[in-house]
Amino acid sequence: MKPLNTTPDRLTSAIEAEERLDAPAYDVANAVSLVLQPLGTAAQPIQNALHGTWLGHPLHPALATLPVGSWTLAAMLDAAEVSGAVRDPGAARAADIALTVGSAGAVAAAASGLADWRQVHGRDRRTGLVHAAANSTALVLTLGSLALRRRGKRRAGQALSGAGWLAMGLGAYLGGHLAYRRRVGVDQADRSPEPRAFQPVIAEAELEEDRPRRVAVWDPVARAEIGIVLVQHRGQVHAMGSRCSHMGGPLDEGWVQDGGLVCPWHGSRYCLRSGRVLDGPSTAPQPRYEVRLRDGQVEVRREMEPGDEALTPRKILAAQAREAPADPPPGARRADEVLREHHDLMRRLFERIRAMDPSDPERRDLMRLLAGELEIHEHVEDEIFYPAVRPVSEDVPLAHAEHQQLADMLAVTLRLGTSDPEFDEHLRTLHEAVDHHASSEETSMFLEAERLGDARLRELGAKIEAMLDHERESRARSAFRDLKIRLLEGA
Ligand code: FES
Ligand SMILES: [Fe+2]
Ligand SMILES: [Fe+2]
Repeated sequence: MKPLNTTPDRLTSAIEAEERLDAPAYDVANAVSLVLQPLGTAAQPIQNALHGTWLGHPLHPALATLPVGSWTLAAMLDAAEVSGAVRDPGAARAADIALTVGSAGAVAAAASGLADWRQVHGRDRRTGLVHAAANSTALVLTLGSLALRRRGKRRAGQALSGAGWLAMGLGAYLGGHLAYRRRVGVDQADRSPEPRAFQPVIAEAELEEDRPRRVAVWDPVARAEIGIVLVQHRGQVHAMGSRCSHMGGPLDEGWVQDGGLVCPWHGSRYCLRSGRVLDGPSTAPQPRYEVRLRDGQVEVRREMEPGDEALTPRKILAAQAREAPADPPPGARRADEVLREHHDLMRRLFERIRAMDPSDPERRDLMRLLAGELEIHEHVEDEIFYPAVRPVSEDVPLAHAEHQQLADMLAVTLRLGTSDPEFDEHLRTLHEAVDHHASSEETSMFLEAERLGDARLRELGAKIEAMLDHERESRARSAFRDLKIRLLEGA
């Protein structure tokens, strides 16, 4: 069965499938080329400026915020004036200024958008054409409105810019579709952290000067092959991702020009040394790899980027060296053991509540007990366990996200009456989500935590047990949790 689409979905699908848009699209693209091509080499810096290559992000969406923001402000001021809510003539002047500023922004956004659109083909070119037509209509209506306002025909001018604002809304929606659904303008390079340690990929003798050569490494987490392009240039071997960040073009099929590697699809040029973009349409640098030569083999290692969470053997060794070998308190249990036991306690509570009769008054009490234990568990992990394992496990950011989701799901479930049929549905999904989270901790994060060593895990275990006891025994903590649960229940 075909899924039922929303109205906006139906609109974008209809535009994307409309082949009759192709002929006018190519006419417009040829007209733009006619302006750019006679400029020769001077066209490239202009295009780089319009794409946002210098900025490191596409320029068009940034410029588009000017008409969207300013024209919306003008529409609000106009509405206030028409309804009589504001009578200040300053507000009317402000509306006109906002329309003028927005129009100037719209012209700049159109120039930059046109430059980007030239490099887009197929269904996205069709959507782009309608997007441009809607925005151009909005601009023409707004300019017409400004002319009418100047001639004192204020009401007619307001009607015209109001219509322009609606056209802009359609244009903005289609622009959002191109960026967020179709990923036009989004970095499309492969950003896998692999290989984290130097890995031989090819014999040096197989490389030829200025001949790009593709090699591949395996990313076991993404279960995907990662392409890397090697280029020997002036006696040095350079390596970058083989998938072009613009739209995924094969850089290994490109060519070397002026110290850069050119993509065969739209001509983006990337610096061989640094991977940065020398010429657009691309705006994002290519992922870089360190290269070394060992026994006639070329070895590569992914160059980590600032803010990367990816762990490398080097980082793990550094983390282990930092952790002082603590003397665990005698008889202390390991952190993973304590947490696993607590997971099982929560699993049993879920099973009991789910098996209970919906009308059983004890069901609410057990639900409160479960909510309290879940809250304590997340608190203990967030405070003690996650910060400790962060240097040796990549799972922590995702685990934090899951905690957030579990807390939101718990809040929704608590609000429902325990005899409500919806309650059982929510309880079941919460149970599955908790089980998924706990199981991924048990099968991944706890194993990675082994890198901290037995003594450190016992030290953490002792801290966790102490905190669990404190959370359960402290009157203030229990009162606070109870209050929170009651608030969530809406009582
Ligand atoms: S895919 Fe467009 S320049 Fe590479
Ligand atoms: Fe957790
Ligand atoms: Fe846990």
